Amino acid sequence: MSSYKIGVIKGDGIGPEIVQEAVKVLDAVANVEGLSFSYEEFLLGGSAIDATGVPLPKETIEGVKRVDAVLFGAIGGPKWDNLDRHLRPESGLLALRKEMNTFANLRPATVYDELINASTLKPEVVEGVDIMVVRELTGGIYFGEPREYGKDRAYNTMVYTKEEVERIAKVAFDIASKRDKRVCSVDKANVLEVSQFWRDIVEEVAKDYPEVELTHMYVDNAAMQLIRYPKQFDVILTGNIFGDILSDAASMLSGSIGLLPSASTGKKVGLYEPIHGSAPDIAGEGIANPIATIASASMMLKYAFGELSAANRIDDAIKKALADGYRTKDLSAFDAKEVVSTSQMGSIIADYASK
Ligand code: IPM
Ligand code: MN
Repeated sequence: MSSYKIGVIKGDGIGPEIVQEAVKVLDAVANVEGLSFSYEEFLLGGSAIDATGVPLPKETIEGVKRVDAVLFGAIGGPKWDNLDRHLRPESGLLALRKEMNTFANLRPATVYDELINASTLKPEVVEGVDIMVVRELTGGIYFGEPREYGKDRAYNTMVYTKEEVERIAKVAFDIASKRDKRVCSVDKANVLEVSQFWRDIVEEVAKDYPEVELTHMYVDNAAMQLIRYPKQFDVILTGNIFGDILSDAASMLSGSIGLLPSASTGKKVGLYEPIHGSAPDIAGEGIANPIATIASASMMLKYAFGELSAANRIDDAIKKALADGYRTKDLSAFDAKEVVSTSQMGSIIADYASK
């Protein structure tokens, strides 16, 4: 029997509710697939600030090194918004990404056929969309030095090294090789030196992947093309801040930000989390959509453990729950047969996944 140690970070807001459902589904799948999961909880973000005074406690940094993968909910909330920047929940997450060296953030934007009407875009525009955004996660302007918040001026620095661009480009080309074999690298090379550099390195890496087609697009155009004709994209490769923005835009193709998972991978342990935030306004009400977190658990099975059959079980169970008309409140207006709570949705998916 294969056994895996999973680090669990529930976080703030709806984090605990949605992570609980993903664990429920993981346990259901373990049962039928003959896998064994053990869980160890760690603190991050606002709940860590409340308990220890800092958003990323030492115990968490050390703990995530002991596990095989980390399942993460969401962090942040108004309670902690006025703290100094380095003490804010978001700083804890950024520092954790850096500590774990999870430089490759994979954000799939796919459309569930059952929810084709949930998108604000026309069904014919979004039907069949299947994009993988590969976002560089531990470099660029998020981490560049020098940076300063001064009295009369403030600045950040956007910097990429050759090594950073090479390794993220390889991830994108490897993924594209197993998909539709197209990479669109997004930058702002008409204005920024760092983007011209990015483009040059990506061109170099592309030489090792003759079977994959490489195109380049400026980020402003890419934002427009994502809304105009999203089916033109297979893999989008981009830097930290452009990827942050484009992946939010791409998430809306699917109708709800509550549906999309992500994987942050690198050299060792990966971090698997929904792309949405902690939604403090609806925390504790039992109405959050757990699907993005459950789908993140599926990505963990696939990318961290190579347990493809277990991952497929979860993906199929999500599709079946949606096909059968179960909807959490965010999607209640779209072909709902029954509106269910967060935990009911988790139980339905767990049940389907174990059949
Ligand atoms: C994301 C989030 C984070 C980011 C924030 C919370 C620091 O928006 O994961 O996309 O900007 O990377
Ligand atoms: Mn974001």
